[in-house]
Amino acid sequence: MDLFEYQARDIFEKHGVPVLAAAIATTADEAEKAATTIGGKVVVKAQVKVGGRGKAGGVKLAENPQDAREKAGAILGMDIKGHTVRTVMIAAAAPIEAEYYLSILLDRSNRTFLVMASVSGGMDIEEVAHTAPEKLAKIPVSAVDGISLAKAKEIVAAAAFPADVADQVVQVLLKLWDVFQGEDATLVEVNPLVKTKDGKVIALDGKVTLDDNADFRQPDHQSLVDQDAENPLEAAAKEKGLNYVKLDGQVGIIGNGAGLVMSTLDVVAYAGEKHGGVRPANFLDIGGGASAQIMADGLSIILGDADVKSVFVNVFGGITACDAVANGIVQALELLGPKATKPIVVRLDGNNVVEGRAILAKAAHPLVEQADTMDGAANRAAELAAK
Ligand SMILES: Nc1ncnc2c1ncn2[C@@H]1O[C@H](COP(=O)(O)OP(=O)(O)OP(=O)(O)O)[C@@H](O)[C@H]1O
Ligand SMILES: [Mg+2]
Repeated sequence: MDLFEYQARDIFEKHGVPVLAAAIATTADEAEKAATTIGGKVVVKAQVKVGGRGKAGGVKLAENPQDAREKAGAILGMDIKGHTVRTVMIAAAAPIEAEYYLSILLDRSNRTFLVMASVSGGMDIEEVAHTAPEKLAKIPVSAVDGISLAKAKEIVAAAAFPADVADQVVQVLLKLWDVFQGEDATLVEVNPLVKTKDGKVIALDGKVTLDDNADFRQPDHQSLVDQDAENPLEAAAKEKGLNYVKLDGQVGIIGNGAGLVMSTLDVVAYAGEKHGGVRPANFLDIGGGASAQIMADGLSIILGDADVKSVFVNVFGGITACDAVANGIVQALELLGPKATKPIVVRLDGNNVVEGRAILAKAAHPLVEQADTMDGAANRAAELAAK
């Protein structure tokens, strides 16, 4: 999960990374009040989960609370690279003397953590990384050792931070490591980290990505979820413990095993080309246990998707036998009753397939039809969706 800047700022503060006074606002009124509380000059910053906000006009300096009100009025509702600004952060304005860059990230390809540091930070860091890569120091950090005092000093030396800020940057690095490790992050980025005119080092912008795999040991992170942005179907699926991803097509997909479901998406997209460009509507892996309840949960999520015109249930019986799945489907349809409204194409194969198909044939549910092959089922489901 990516965090908003204000959430990153709060986490930084919690771990002792130096930040400025700030507050969030969703109206111009609130922005004016926040600016009054903070006092002096402030910056008004669009809270969207996308980079380059400054260049897009989403970061503005305000001279006084009245000015903050006007700037917030202009920024709220703005569209930045497809993200609507619903919230702004009002932060104290720093007298900036120099802008640096610091980040810690998970470097998957090298199976390590990586620190990137530069004394040429700010809004053009991407350009710097491109045209003058030598100005961006990259130092691997082992997961076992982390960032020790010695490591932090090594990084600061490698990036050639000036002597007058070196000690402060070392401290910031140690605290950012605390954030990275303590919060189970995969990215912690500060751009810019600034030196103010009075020689203080402060984090002015933060990007944090949390590792969702660690949610089980980070219960507090639940409160950071952006409810406005969460897809309601995905939220409902998550609540039921289903592995569901909403896509933008018309054929609802249920399968067992992530690999099978992914290839099902492919065959449906392929078959859909012959039927006016019909596409899969979701990814849903019901895993090993295709009980009636799991099947009913999965079907009800998919049938609740207004875009879905037909459903393709693709199950290969392994440890879960086809007759158990067929019973699951029959009982799920009973559970759903009149809520089941869309045609369902079922392809069963593998363990106990004969029994499974017989159960579905006997139930003879008016919405269910069977297909012998995966391609045949994909074609039929696409055809039904195109009608
Ligand atoms: N509190 C502040 N006081 C003074 N200037 C600020 C403050 N916050 C940001 N700025 C200035 O605005 C610029 C852009 O701000 P910031 O980095 O937060 O936004 P951004 O454009 O989203 O950055 P990125 O490109 O990293 O996504 C900074 O480089 C800095 O010069
Ligand atoms: Mg920035």
